[in-house]
Amino acid sequence: MTGLQTELCDILGIGHPILQGGMGPYKTESLAIAVANAGCLGVISSIGMAATLLPDAAPVDALKLFGTDPPRVILQKSIESVTKETKSDAVFGVNVPVAAEFLIASKMFVEEVIEARQSSSDVEKKLRVIITSAGNPTRWSEVKKHGLIWIHVVPSVYHAKKAEKAGADIIVASGHEGGAHISWEPVHSTVLVPAVAKAVETPVVAAGGFCDGRSLAAALCFGAVGIQMGTRFIATKESDFESIWKDMIVEKDERGTLTGRGLFGPMRFLRNTRSEEIVEQTLADVPRFFLGDPVESNEKILELERTGFDELLKGNRDLALMFSGECAGRISNIPSVSQVVDDIISEAQAVFESLTK
Ligand SMILES: Cc1cc2nc3c(=O)[nH]c(=O)nc-3n(C[C@H](O)[C@H](O)[C@H](O)COP(=O)(O)O)c2cc1C
Repeated sequence: MTGLQTELCDILGIGHPILQGGMGPYKTESLAIAVANAGCLGVISSIGMAATLLPDAAPVDALKLFGTDPPRVILQKSIESVTKETKSDAVFGVNVPVAAEFLIASKMFVEEVIEARQSSSDVEKKLRVIITSAGNPTRWSEVKKHGLIWIHVVPSVYHAKKAEKAGADIIVASGHEGGAHISWEPVHSTVLVPAVAKAVETPVVAAGGFCDGRSLAAALCFGAVGIQMGTRFIATKESDFESIWKDMIVEKDERGTLTGRGLFGPMRFLRNTRSEEIVEQTLADVPRFFLGDPVESNEKILELERTGFDELLKGNRDLALMFSGECAGRISNIPSVSQVVDDIISEAQAVFESLTK
């Protein structure tokens, strides 16, 4: 297999133009190792690690996932483990959501990344990226002073311009097809990605609905320099997710997800009894949600999320709360990460070859 090199590969020093999206509530440590070893950008997810700081609001019981270490130590150990388990030329990053609710944790995680790089030349060589998401980009450009590449995730042209002004090295344009948190206004990738790519000079990565070679080729045609994938990477052998989550992604067709009000904003879930309950609550208590208006969540939704996580750990397919992108409908197997990456690159190359014959 020959490569498909883009500007994204040059900036990050990776072999293929593919980023793994941050995906709480897991650390995504095993996934980050596999993705980085496959020549893409592996990403450690920090959102779940912050749960012990928000015991009343957190949708997951962090103790069940992470034990008793403080959040900063959880991240530190994760960085050490990914550094140790990856090849010498592997590259990885840390996703830090920067929503207002998380700012204390966000600053702490960014400090930990900077310190971890200062304390080991191996970490410094491999941990090159911070991906901020779900919040205001303005204060985060300082990470560049510490030698990090700064990527920021946005849901609109307006936010992309703001991220460019703030100095982001790469902008991820994340469309409404994507899994877990999505934007209030339902703008989909087919409209969002080319619009953002046209509006900014900063390199743009497409997210939301990208899961194979055809969609990678489409992203490049839209003007992006690569793709960020969440859902496709969940359904892999190495991913840290529960097996019912992986299996349901494989089973669903393209109508297999629902959107409703999550704790921190709108979310896309795999469709089951639990997510239908959340949509019913959204309609009952926050009806302006479906008009794209930012509206408060409520205790009932929070409770459905918390118990939904407990049910996940018990393996209850109906009552488990699981996030996924619409592209679950285009995923039908659970291969290794390297197989996923190989298939995507060869398919994208075949698409381009067939177009230029
Ligand atoms: C289970 C799940 C958890 C996610 N958690 C996060 C997160 O913690 N931080 C973040 O920036 N994005 C998060 N995302 C979004 C992904 O990083 C990615 O942008 C998105 O999944 C892309 O769309 P796709 O699912 O169609 O590939 C999550 C997505 C999923 C499916």
